[in-house]
Amino acid sequence: MMERLYWIETWGCQMNEHDSEKMAGILEGLGYQRSPNVEAADLALLNTCAIREKAEEKVYQALGRLGEAKRQRPEMIVVVAGCVSQLAGQQVRERAPMVDLVIGPRAVSRLPEHLARLEDERGIVDTTLYQDSLMRRSEPVRKMKERGKAWVTVMEGCNKTCSYCVVPATRGREESRQLDDILGEVMALAAEGYVEIEFLGQNVNAYRCPQSGAGLADLLRAAGRVEGIRRLRFTTSHPLHLRQPIIDAMAEVPEVCPALHLPVQSGSTAVLKAMRRGYSREKYLERVEQLRRAVPDIALGTDVIVGFPGESEEDFQQTLSLVREVGFDQMFSFVYSSRPGTVAGMMADSVPHERKVEQLIELQALQREIQFERHQRLVGREVEVLVEGRSRRSEAEWAGRTACNRVVNFPGEEVEAGQMLTVRVTEARPNSLRGELVRADEAAFLT
Ligand code: SAH
Ligand code: SF4
Ligand code: F3S
Repeated sequence: MMERLYWIETWGCQMNEHDSEKMAGILEGLGYQRSPNVEAADLALLNTCAIREKAEEKVYQALGRLGEAKRQRPEMIVVVAGCVSQLAGQQVRERAPMVDLVIGPRAVSRLPEHLARLEDERGIVDTTLYQDSLMRRSEPVRKMKERGKAWVTVMEGCNKTCSYCVVPATRGREESRQLDDILGEVMALAAEGYVEIEFLGQNVNAYRCPQSGAGLADLLRAAGRVEGIRRLRFTTSHPLHLRQPIIDAMAEVPEVCPALHLPVQSGSTAVLKAMRRGYSREKYLERVEQLRRAVPDIALGTDVIVGFPGESEEDFQQTLSLVREVGFDQMFSFVYSSRPGTVAGMMADSVPHERKVEQLIELQALQREIQFERHQRLVGREVEVLVEGRSRRSEAEWAGRTACNRVVNFPGEEVEAGQMLTVRVTEARPNSLRGELVRADEAAFLT
């Protein structure tokens, strides 16, 4: 068989990165191999994100660059997948006519059929929000993540109606997988040597098994019992759906990591209302308290948007005060971006761009301080890390993650990605920790 090469570039969230793993698995099943660069590829796939305008622009820039490669090699197949495909499939074809296939996130498993059709037809657009997108998911997944850790999709789609967000339009209605199918995948991964599993879903705590009605708490308890699984995580959680059974499972199942990403978006109740988040500042703070009562050392992460339409300076101050009050361990913050087809997209984008940027800088400076302070408290402590690979800062060091999702860099010989090690924290930095190796875990995962 002639060797065919594929190239995938991915933007966006973990769900999108995991979709890329699935598509890579499908392509490898069809006999493709990973290309070292885009120029040599027989198939180039862009897996896109539409969450903010900038993310969408990047896709068109990448398509511009791909156009050059395609002129050199007209037989190259160009595929655009992901959320931009779903939102603006026809537009992608109009702006970049050289695109051969546009495929939405809920049509990922249809990739083989569409590639076969491309033999005699160009310019296929499939943005059907297939209801069975998860049921059909049995394709092999080509893991691109570090060894030792794997993602597992438990649900797709979002039934929320946050006024600023395109995700309900790009990913469709919520759909959960059967609990037994998920457990089967977890067991297979454990047998392969994976020790950490992260359950994925746009609104993961709304997970409900279509057959038994079991929820995320039941899934966590069952997955915790799978032999070989040492760490469980799940993302992304909506504060409204974080009910007591899930919090109890976090407290009681030792494998569930003491870390949670719980996007707040704003510290002002008025803005939260305009965002249609369904909770107030007080309600969010209550949830945090409830979590900390159950899991005292929990590391909390969040997302914040600044400059929402109609947001006042006072509202922004409320966000700063909430961030101070909670003391998050991690924060992703964004300048509000008006998106087509959303309710907020119809409101006047009232905060000037320059002011939004200033607010973002102020918020990020505050978060840096908080994180640094929280990291300093860990100096001297021994932490268990799962090694991800070489450190980004230095080839001589390794990088691993603690159960509470902090990055620890440390020197060491005879270390391998996928190992569980105990490291003593020697130095705190705002975004990471430094440490020294204490010992390798007895049950270390070695390949
Ligand atoms: N399902 C998740 C995350 C969705 S997108 C959740 O509900 O939390 C990831 C983050 O992007 C969001 O949490 C939000 O902070 C940000 N985001 C979404 N739409 C945005 C927009 N129009 N402008 C700026 N940031 C946005
Ligand atoms: Fe978007 Fe809200 Fe759904 Fe998250 S919960 S994906 S922010 S609509
Ligand atoms: Fe982006 Fe789609 Fe994820 S819009 S953030 S890739 S769900």
